[in-house]
Amino acid sequence: MMGKKRVVVTGGLGYIGSHTTVALQDRGFEVIIIDDLSNSSIDVLDGIYKITGKKPEFHQFDLKDNSIVKKFFKENNDLDGVIHFAASKAVGESVQKPLQYYENNLFSLINLLEAYSYNPASRLIFSSSCTVYGQAIELPITEKAPIKKAESPYGNTKQIGEEIIKDTCLVNKGFKAIALRYFNPIGAHESAKIGELPIGTPQNLIPFITQTAIGKREQLAVFGNDYPTKDGTAIRDYIHVRDLAEAHVAALELLLQDDKQDNYDVFNLGTGKGQSVLEVIHAFEESTGQRIPYEIKGRRNGDVTAAYADTSKANSILKWKAKRSLLQALSSAWNWEINNTIV
Ligand code: WQD
Repeated sequence: MMGKKRVVVTGGLGYIGSHTTVALQDRGFEVIIIDDLSNSSIDVLDGIYKITGKKPEFHQFDLKDNSIVKKFFKENNDLDGVIHFAASKAVGESVQKPLQYYENNLFSLINLLEAYSYNPASRLIFSSSCTVYGQAIELPITEKAPIKKAESPYGNTKQIGEEIIKDTCLVNKGFKAIALRYFNPIGAHESAKIGELPIGTPQNLIPFITQTAIGKREQLAVFGNDYPTKDGTAIRDYIHVRDLAEAHVAALELLLQDDKQDNYDVFNLGTGKGQSVLEVIHAFEESTGQRIPYEIKGRRNGDVTAAYADTSKANSILKWKAKRSLLQALSSAWNWEINNTIV
């Protein structure tokens, strides 16, 4: 009998990485996590274990360290795939520390590709973002929409990262890769054993809402109500992190199974539905019974008016569809907040 398929998850203790580890283990994969703990906690390993009963193998190192990366992939030359999440992700911080972002997100990717892409069986799933589209002219956004010049160094690292992988695939046909462009991932595992762990003041809407509801923040600022949308607030496509995690497994399985699949491809991952900031607030109030005090403030720099995915490519080729509702996602985020707040 063949052994279990072995997959490396970089950044596997982070928000999306931990949920993807659970989804992989649920599908029978053996997971090896690489994480430098720069924006994650070792306790997440226990959270994963409590959910699946399986502890992933764990390696703590920084992918910027070329010699360690080389050594790791030399010792692990029988891998069935790598899912690469490890990266810095704060948009505002990236504007302040551009070199740190380029270095962290791109050196690590290059080291990984140098050490891994020449293996004849290498398969890579890359964490990209809908931010590559900027404000798209046509909604919903398909993968054919033009790439816009990035607004931030963070966004630029995702665009450049995709190009680096694509160029590598061009010259190395044995190397297969998929870039997944996430819309807005939210929520947590319903067990509340793993979830998002924002450091300091959350920049993203849902953790700010849950922290306001629990009393860590006084009120939520709604950034702009003068957008050309139904209620004036900006529209996004909020996808449950567990649905997103399952899409990674589907993408990896496609690369493992389908010889006809191009050796480089991109997919949007969203629900296909757009929700305004006010709709999200009201949905949170409805699903949790909590009231969210909020005030309308000015627009936030760099924000687009509306972004939601055309998911038909992922639906047909990955045979995957987001199946959890916004209300489920919001109540799971609330559950996670409650479980993580020491009263
Ligand atoms: C959603 C909506 C805000 C906070 C960002 C990155 C993107 C991706 C995910 C990650 C917007 C509004 C927010 C608040 C608010 N990157 N808002 N008050 O901006 O769509 O995407 O995170 O790794 O690259 O740009 O997500 O959650 O920050 O904002 O009114 O306190 O909520 O203006 O309309 P965004 P978000």
